[in-house]
Amino acid sequence: MKTIAGLGDLTGKKVLVRSDLNVPLDGTTITDDGRVRASVPTIQALLDAGAAVIVTAHLGRPGGEPKPEYSLAPAAARLAELLGRPVTLAADLVGESAKATVAALESGQVAMLENVRYDARETSKVDEERQALAQELAALADVFVSDGFGVVHRKQASVYDVAQILPAAAGTLVEKEVVSLSRATTDPERPYAVVLGGSKVSDKLGVIGNLLTKADRLLIGGGMVFTFLKAKGYEVGSSLLEEDQIDTVKGYLETAEANGVEIVLPTDIEVAAAFAADAEHKTVPADQIPDGWMGLDIGPESGALFASKIADAKTIVWNGPMGVFEFEAFEGGTRAVAQAMIDADGFSVVGGGDSAAAVRRLGYDEAGFSHISTGGGASLELLEGKVLPGLAVLED
Ligand code: 3PG
Repeated sequence: MKTIAGLGDLTGKKVLVRSDLNVPLDGTTITDDGRVRASVPTIQALLDAGAAVIVTAHLGRPGGEPKPEYSLAPAAARLAELLGRPVTLAADLVGESAKATVAALESGQVAMLENVRYDARETSKVDEERQALAQELAALADVFVSDGFGVVHRKQASVYDVAQILPAAAGTLVEKEVVSLSRATTDPERPYAVVLGGSKVSDKLGVIGNLLTKADRLLIGGGMVFTFLKAKGYEVGSSLLEEDQIDTVKGYLETAEANGVEIVLPTDIEVAAAFAADAEHKTVPADQIPDGWMGLDIGPESGALFASKIADAKTIVWNGPMGVFEFEAFEGGTRAVAQAMIDADGFSVVGGGDSAAAVRRLGYDEAGFSHISTGGGASLELLEGKVLPGLAVLED
């Protein structure tokens, strides 16, 4: 993979950096700034090398037109705080404001272009449309650095096409993510345990299918576990259930057995009378979920079981919370997994998205994990063994 070192002397150069600043917002307040923080080392390294940095990024899915609630202003303000220097946000992407902002930019200064998804060409399926936008982005800079790991699975103008026009390299975040996730997926040290959660089996079909030939242990929690429990013949009350995936899951259970992969399911479940933070709740055996109750977390016995399966693993990958960790009463399973990963000696990777947010929200020290990915879909697709366009384009 091409790296920044290969771009040569960057003194006085204008560097277009694709970052992933797609952060959760409450109004204009960033509720988890993990991705902004993760974007800093590459930008700082480029500034230290004497470059002027132009950041391009997306926020949400504004649908190809400017919408003020999707402005990158909060991300630009947070980045400025973290860098300790101003970040000038252009009012547009490749228009008059962007051109004037970039023209005035000097070495050691940072500008940000407005949300790249305000332009419908960014996500267009028509190659020529994306390439036309990529040409306009490329015209603003001398070189391109791809550092938005969370979007490298997207074949989009600011991720893929621009890298074919300008001299391009991976930023340090993309490099670090690829090294860590590859270590966990290509020839992992064994035992190799994978913890999967999140609400839907259907979101994780590719990952589960791929891991059934690779992992030693697959620990299943989160909303998706109820489709597994149902596939085993248990009643799941009013828990989340994907009826149309039951046969697929039965197939997984058979493949796992045939391949000697241990599928670890919870033995107890924290059930609630309603989906609410203050709902009446109790712990029940996983095969005795009462009618009318919904499972919102794995139970304490399951938390201990999962922790024991994590404890001696040499490689641990975790993607998806074990329960509705946003409600205190249902955070126990997610806590058990996070703590077990911190306590384990093995190489531990949190696969981004909601599980990374959970780690931070529940107050764990990020340093306790070997790697916390900034990617959601991107890290899942790497776990699936897919070739990601935004990475392929950076190959030597
Ligand atoms: C993410 O949040 O996973 C990335 O920023 C990609 O966003 P997208 O799914 O809207 O492409």
